[in-house]
Amino acid sequence: MNMVDLTTTYLGLKLKNPLVASPSPLSEKVENVKRMQEAGIAAIVMYSLFEEQIIHESLELDHFLSRGTDSFAEALTYFPNIGKYSLAPDKYIEALQKTKLAVDIPVMGSLNGVSTGGWIEYAQKIEDAGADALELNLYYLPTDLNLTSSQLEDNYLKLVSDIRRGVKIPLAVKLAPFYTALPNFARHLVEAGADGLVLFNRFYQPDLDLENLEVVPNLVLSNSDALRLPLRWIAILYGKIKVDLALTSGVHTPEDAIKAVMAGANVAMTTSAILKRGAVAIQQILTGMEEWMTGHEYESVKQMRGSMSQGAIAEPSAFERANYMKVLNSFNADVI
Ligand SMILES: Cc1cc2nc3c(=O)[nH]c(=O)nc-3n(C[C@H](O)[C@H](O)[C@H](O)COP(=O)(O)O)c2cc1C
Repeated sequence: MNMVDLTTTYLGLKLKNPLVASPSPLSEKVENVKRMQEAGIAAIVMYSLFEEQIIHESLELDHFLSRGTDSFAEALTYFPNIGKYSLAPDKYIEALQKTKLAVDIPVMGSLNGVSTGGWIEYAQKIEDAGADALELNLYYLPTDLNLTSSQLEDNYLKLVSDIRRGVKIPLAVKLAPFYTALPNFARHLVEAGADGLVLFNRFYQPDLDLENLEVVPNLVLSNSDALRLPLRWIAILYGKIKVDLALTSGVHTPEDAIKAVMAGANVAMTTSAILKRGAVAIQQILTGMEEWMTGHEYESVKQMRGSMSQGAIAEPSAFERANYMKVLNSFNADVI
């Protein structure tokens, strides 16, 4: 019998535990989603439908992206083979419907795009296909010297409010970590209609192939070190903005998931751990969470949530700059 209560809520959904599978090619196969369900995952977010797949020729997209042609190339190389990785729009909707019918856990759709335009109708199609929520992945790398951060943010905010107006299902926004003033932007996203924030999108940095003098896409799966970045920002945002928080990046162990919850996340999302270890990773994380909580006399995830957020801890500056010198000084200046 379970002694601890792992239930949580996210985007108005009641979840049996805080572990959610984030978008990856794993959700391309219904079989994999079933395996993840069997292993105990509480919900899944389907792989993304990319704007480029919907309106490659759209003038609006061209206009927006031609400001930084390099980044368009980067966007296309986000996955080594975008054509193969994802299916065409209608196939996506079909895949979502099939997945939804095959499992009992909530299934969320994911849209990856940057411009407002006709492709927003796909948000509605995702809703009509039965998705329990929609995650919007804002992935754009600004390279244009004339594009300001506020122009870019305004564009994002317009997109979010357009989509918000178009669908009734809950809407989460998945962000990159690269904002000069993240809390302010986060606040505006919530005002524009985001019910949840997913922190952070993991950027795949291109590498250089020195022999062939080519820029090559290089996908490196995460490890637990990647947790620190979203952990800090979740801890800072928790309690400051009325929004659900999902942590993505570096959730591999039970301790990682517990840290995510204690920082303030409603859910901890995971992909690399499942890609590396298979569906058993889900079971290991959940069983380990129960054991840890029992051993440390925590009764529920709800009780743990936010207990180590910036607002809750004795030394809030630990999440800020004040910690900087301490960390540097923790290394001895010994002769090497
Ligand atoms: C192969 C692969 C494909 C991914 N595809 C998507 C995607 O389609 N949409 C998306 O929002 N994130 C995508 N991601 C990002 C993951 O959902 C996740 O946010 C990221 O990998 C960080 O979590 P992790 O450390 O648990 O891997 C992908 C990641 C990987 C490794």
